[in-house]
Amino acid sequence: MTVRMISYKQLGLANTRDMYKKALKGGYAIPGYNFNNMEQLQAIIRACAETESPVVLQLSKGAREYANQTMLRHMAEGAVGYAKELGKEIPICLHLDHGNSLEFAKSCIDTGFSSVMFDGSALPYEENIAISRKVIEYAHDRDVTVECELGILAGIEESVLADKSTYTNPEEAADFSTRTGCDSLAISIGTSHGANKFKPEQCTRTETGILIPPPLRFDILEMVQELLPEMPIVLHGASSVIPEYVRMINENGGNLEDAIGIPEDQLRKAARMNVCKINIDSDGRLAMTAIIRRTLAEKPSIFDPRQYLGQARDELARMYARKNREVLGSAGHAFD
Ligand code: G3H
Ligand code: 13P
Ligand code: ZN
Repeated sequence: MTVRMISYKQLGLANTRDMYKKALKGGYAIPGYNFNNMEQLQAIIRACAETESPVVLQLSKGAREYANQTMLRHMAEGAVGYAKELGKEIPICLHLDHGNSLEFAKSCIDTGFSSVMFDGSALPYEENIAISRKVIEYAHDRDVTVECELGILAGIEESVLADKSTYTNPEEAADFSTRTGCDSLAISIGTSHGANKFKPEQCTRTETGILIPPPLRFDILEMVQELLPEMPIVLHGASSVIPEYVRMINENGGNLEDAIGIPEDQLRKAARMNVCKINIDSDGRLAMTAIIRRTLAEKPSIFDPRQYLGQARDELARMYARKNREVLGSAGHAFD
């Protein structure tokens, strides 16, 4: 198998350095939207061009295996071209989400990624530092930026299922950043991956039975930013698990129980602090599934994928645009 080596610069992509510097100063967060297929990517670009927002396009290891690395490189180049065609040359970063080895990070960097995450959060502390440093050295030699992670998020993280969160220790975060030289740091303050972020017993209920999750640990975020005022912070597991989509899925043959996410007002607050990227994958999955289920249930005779995927894509674009405007605050900042 021959894979052509290419730098992200040849694809028209950007690393995160400038984006985060501006986000930190401007008090907003860049969207880290995950994608696996063309319709998701089209929706992200359409929404970010329309709202004039910079964007980090995220690919997990699983997404890269699903979509194929050569296809993805051309899709990323296509995304840059599509934004241009829409008349908005917004900054676009192609980022490896939850990379778990030096070899994998190298392979992404060599095939057009402008940013990589090395997620050593489940490793012993010194081992996380040692591998992070190697990834950073390789990446920085090629002007690629690196996100690292400290603290464990509950939920599924690249097939590792953590039952409970281990919050990030702010002093460790300061030590880790100094010793690795990472460009951004993902921390654990109570978010988690997937559509079931909290167990019902961790929540309170309103009179009408709606579950209210426990608040994020803003005290930890404050301590981290006091110790590391210039460090761009990343929040993973930050989908809001929008109830309208969960209802639509369940009303059309799905079965999602006790799905609950992070309230938007808390993400807005985090975005105004030193959180410079907010990762959202599950909300995109839920919106897409909801619209596909509803469309197929309402029109049982259709079988052209464009009919249900097209509707899902339009809804996704609306959702991302609203998030950029109302939650992340990144709208209007593409050309700062
Ligand atoms: O953080 C995990 C992302 O949601 C990616 O999930 O590994 O199923 O693609 P995935
Ligand atoms: P969600 O599952 O909350 O969308 O989190 C996505 C994520 O953190 C990707 O890295
Ligand atoms: Zn994540």
